[in-house]
Amino acid sequence: MAYQLKINGKTQSVDVDGDTPLLWVLRDVVGLTGTKFGCGMAMCGACTVHLDGNPVRSCSFPVEGVGRQAVTTIEAIGQTPVGKRIQTVWVDKDVPQCGYCQSGQIMSACALLKQNPRPTEADVDAAMSGNLCRCGTYPRIKSAILSAAAGAPVKG
Ligand code: FES
Ligand code: FES
Repeated sequence: MAYQLKINGKTQSVDVDGDTPLLWVLRDVVGLTGTKFGCGMAMCGACTVHLDGNPVRSCSFPVEGVGRQAVTTIEAIGQTPVGKRIQTVWVDKDVPQCGYCQSGQIMSACALLKQNPRPTEADVDAAMSGNLCRCGTYPRIKSAILSAAAGAPVKG
């Protein structure tokens, strides 16, 4: 069945079964490979994208559930003020190690700062607890998010 998806501001038609996970559509049909496959079971957060600004695990989200919601992936998050800031701080603080989990980490971090521009450490821990990093970059991730939040408030 054909679905019209709004992905990173562009409407795309994809012809897939309705129960196809959004991650498969993004990577294999649309060719946006910045979003990663980790566990495939909504357990690790590597596949996190935004639907209307809210973080979802795309490995476990059927394409038929997207509807008119705007899909944003790591490829476009830098076009939002909060995404740009997070990516800048990520680079400044040299957060990634192997990098595999980092798309998902950034998408969760951006969703957090959009909803809560001044998170406490506990807020950060709670928001990021579903994003696993086998390299153990957690202290740098937390520090980067708190630094990004310490700047002037941003919209978007
Ligand atoms: S790949 Fe989706 S949560 Fe792990
Ligand atoms: S940086 Fe390697 S898995 Fe997180």
